[in-house]
Amino acid sequence: CGITACIGETDSVEPLIEGLQSLEYRGYDSAGIAVKGRSDISLAKSVGEVSELVDEVEENPLSGEYGIGHTRWATHGGVTDENAHPHTDESGRVAVVHNGIIGNHQSLKSELESRGHTFTSDTDTEVVPHLIEEELNNGATPEEAFRSAVARLSGTYAIAAIIDGDEAIYATRSGSPLVFGIGPGRYFLASDVPAFVEYTDQVVYLHDGDFIAVRPDGYEITDGAGRQINREVERVEWSAETATKGGYEHFMLKEIHEQPGALRNTIHGRLNALDGTVELDDFPEGTFSEIEEVQFVGMGTSYHAAMYASNMLSARGVPSYAFQAGEYGLVRPPVKSNTLVVAVTQSGETADTLDAIRRAQSAGARTVAITNTVGSSVTRECDETLLIRAGPEIGVAATKTFCSQVTALSMIGERLVEDVTGGQSNSARDLVESMSRLPGHVQEVLDTSIASAVAKEYKDADSYFFIGRGVAHPVALEGALKFKEISYEHAEGFAASELKHGPLALVTPNTPVFAVFTGFDDEATLSNMKEVQARGAPVIAVTSKTDGEIAEFADHVLSIPETHPDMAGIPASVQLQLVAYHAADLLDRPIDKPRNLAKSVTVQ
Ligand code: G6P
Repeated sequence: CGITACIGETDSVEPLIEGLQSLEYRGYDSAGIAVKGRSDISLAKSVGEVSELVDEVEENPLSGEYGIGHTRWATHGGVTDENAHPHTDESGRVAVVHNGIIGNHQSLKSELESRGHTFTSDTDTEVVPHLIEEELNNGATPEEAFRSAVARLSGTYAIAAIIDGDEAIYATRSGSPLVFGIGPGRYFLASDVPAFVEYTDQVVYLHDGDFIAVRPDGYEITDGAGRQINREVERVEWSAETATKGGYEHFMLKEIHEQPGALRNTIHGRLNALDGTVELDDFPEGTFSEIEEVQFVGMGTSYHAAMYASNMLSARGVPSYAFQAGEYGLVRPPVKSNTLVVAVTQSGETADTLDAIRRAQSAGARTVAITNTVGSSVTRECDETLLIRAGPEIGVAATKTFCSQVTALSMIGERLVEDVTGGQSNSARDLVESMSRLPGHVQEVLDTSIASAVAKEYKDADSYFFIGRGVAHPVALEGALKFKEISYEHAEGFAASELKHGPLALVTPNTPVFAVFTGFDDEATLSNMKEVQARGAPVIAVTSKTDGEIAEFADHVLSIPETHPDMAGIPASVQLQLVAYHAADLLDRPIDKPRNLAKSVTVQ
């Protein structure tokens, strides 16, 4: 879910709705706003995307100088008008928006019902306005009422409330993101910066446990006990333009095309291609000399980047494992003080990943965050951070952040290989050189890809398979994930060696197979390619070998520039992103906002 709030001299409806539109990547099941001006709090809500809310507001206009907004990704309760936020108390004096999950909402609800409160939704959030209402009835000031209500909650939350009787917005966070924007003539609160970057680049990243009261003429940040806290005002480095589609039909296509620039930022000032070394300011030589084992954790696309990194490092002598962060607490891999746990997360807010990091830390591990989001929870919770610097990614399907994650992981991986094994690997120079050429290599793919023709040829297929070995295995998984996420067609990725142990039963002339070749152990993948062709399946090879046996046997070739096998997965991923994009476009899918998904999942 995404929340917004704003307060200022002029009407708040437009900035609130614009903010929600920029946060739709966090959920788009339903949306709503509550505003307050001279009269009572007024509300507008609707099921569906924010555009539905816009229609609703056009039909039934409302106005007010301050207000709160919400775009929902359903966790508790179906997608209905009643469950859409903001939620109110019975008297309509309090309106609340919330992102996260209130763990003890059941017991609070029973307690409140036993005292006569009536609930109108199935959400966990609705307990909050009722708790505030009770405090007000007991004589508390609006600010006291907000604090006391929040003190009753457990779970994860970013909450913003408006309360009749005080021209203010009250907000707090615990485990869900909340940023504060300071604009000329107006203040903003939101789950993420794009919600208000059009109005200001002055931002305060609030911490867990912070309370903020914002009034038209100022703001105050305090801790749970009411003591004042000073938080630094930072300047965000990207402009409103970077959070718009900039002439592309979809954010996803724009972000695919932004990859050369994103990769340039990821590696900028961090590589010395001449002597084959990486130079990461916060990770100097020897930084990891105590480390004996690395565990990577992440979810979705970030898990695939984690797998990629662990494959690379194991093959180069560093004991490494990748875990889906959501499974980490159940698998419970042994952790020692010389275990490094690396959290891979674009948003820095994924609840499963934060949970894994907390478990690793309590078992004594050292932790590093690989993230795109300055000031995110993971950067605060981990011992150290390496930013991937890919710029804002709005499309729900991750693209540029995957390639930047893999690149950042390769760089920190090089430091690990040197520190843990006591020297550079033989191919370090080649590898670092290939990293430095990634922006150009990806540009070449973008300029020459025939992915749209391939997508068109196979648009009526039953199912799509993706195979690869070594680092091409996570690339195959990621190719399939992208494809299913946005096209809604069935797609699966496999280790190329695994195909003949079961999935081959599904292979028919109507199941195109995308085979990813990195230049390492290509012969084995070529055999797997022939195995599926023998069952009639068309094969699309992603390879740099455009004039050998692979190209001869493949039905189509999506070519990538020749590079170090460990880096080949990046341009190969770009080819597969383009295939998924064009397939989804041909099917007219809502590419930037696939059904049931959200970009940032802050619940477990
Ligand atoms: C969600 C998104 C995925 C993303 C995953 C992890 O499920 O839909 O695209 O890969 O979360 O997100 P993170 O922000 O931790 O990389």
